[in-house]
Amino acid sequence: MQNIDRRIKYILFDQKTLESKITELSDWVNSTYEKIDDDLIIVGLLKGSLPFLAQLIKTVKVDFLLDFMILSSYDGKEHSSGSVKVVLDLANDIKNKNVLIVEDIIDTGRTMQKVVNLLQSRNPKSLKVLTLLNKPSGRKVDFEPDNFGFIIKNEFVVGFGFDWKEKMRQLPYIGVLKDEEFKK
Ligand code: PRP
Repeated sequence: MQNIDRRIKYILFDQKTLESKITELSDWVNSTYEKIDDDLIIVGLLKGSLPFLAQLIKTVKVDFLLDFMILSSYDGKEHSSGSVKVVLDLANDIKNKNVLIVEDIIDTGRTMQKVVNLLQSRNPKSLKVLTLLNKPSGRKVDFEPDNFGFIIKNEFVVGFGFDWKEKMRQLPYIGVLKDEEFKK
């Protein structure tokens, strides 16, 4: 039995469940990109995707370059602020490259819409989006990823990269925060 953080109401996805789903997702990456003869650039959207990305790439067998972006929409609050800011841009030129964006969650879809529009304007050869969690009930703009790990309901998750006021990202599982924590 895992030790559960006292602020967690219940665990949605434990460590084993996450690991096995992420292995499935890296199989998808391998089969999607096994035949390409140009570079693949995997773009991690920091900070939330870090644990997912770190686990995913352990079993990716195709060659790739790793790059990062930081976008911010939540400002450490419970709900999206509606505006998305590019805090850190890519180090690589993606023109004519295959780009795979790795994200932790698509909620309103605003972050991903902004990133995809921005990266498309740089003329990559291909552009795909993989997200660990997908929350279709939160959508404010029309956006669907190419693949995802789990669909979640309209609940606020923490752990495995997901934060509450920038903390709790280190939990090895994904859980739902107790209601009283929102009032603190
Ligand atoms: C969170 C999350 C996604 C985005 C999804 O990022 O990591 O990037 O919001 O929300 P959306 O679909 O409503 O745009 P956040 O700005 O909290 O940054 P973080 O990754 O550093 O936690």
